[in-house]
Amino acid sequence: MAKGQIVAYCNAQIGNVIITQEQIAERIAQLARQITTDYEGKQLVLVGVLTGSFVFLSDLMRQLDRPCEVDFLDASSYGNNTVSSGEVVIGKGLNLSLTGKDVLIVEDIVDSGRTISELVRLIAAHRPASIKVCTLLSKTARRERTVELNYIGFEIPDYFVVGYGLDYAQCFRNLPFIAVLNEDAAAPKLPTNE
Ligand code: IMP
Ligand code: MG
Repeated sequence: MAKGQIVAYCNAQIGNVIITQEQIAERIAQLARQITTDYEGKQLVLVGVLTGSFVFLSDLMRQLDRPCEVDFLDASSYGNNTVSSGEVVIGKGLNLSLTGKDVLIVEDIVDSGRTISELVRLIAAHRPASIKVCTLLSKTARRERTVELNYIGFEIPDYFVVGYGLDYAQCFRNLPFIAVLNEDAAAPKLPTNE
């Protein structure tokens, strides 16, 4: 399906584009420059939070002028809803040893802060040299836990957003921009080939 067709099919379910493809690219370049500077002489390991962060992580890591390792953890709290269940479920664990290394957790979005605070606690048990958090998006208005976010791409208002890795019921991850989900729309239906 061509990109134009994907966007057309999504139109009923996505609202305004709040962050464009160009804005994302520009901000990632800035974040990568900062991280490159901050991690000089360190043993950097990027730990992505599946599934949403894989798009952001892959763009960010290719802008880093530093050697780094990459691993992924699977954490979810939403199921197929737009409201978190409040319980963080860890699926896939880590493959790499993090002991003595400088871990940068890469998230798509920090909302209540439950997921990231659980992950920081879990990763701390591996005794890394340092733990920092880099998130593309932050909804500070909805925070329930105090969490230190070291690198933030964009602060956004309290909307449920999709695109650039972020999903609603597993759809819309492949949109190249960040848009607001139209909550009045029916659950996403995949187009048929007819
Ligand atoms: P938290 O535990 O409430 O901070 O939620 C964090 C996780 O919820 C993120 O890693 C996302 O997977 C998901 N999430 C939170 N807000 C949104 C959103 O607006 N769109 C899509 N996923 C979201
Ligand atoms: Mg997530």
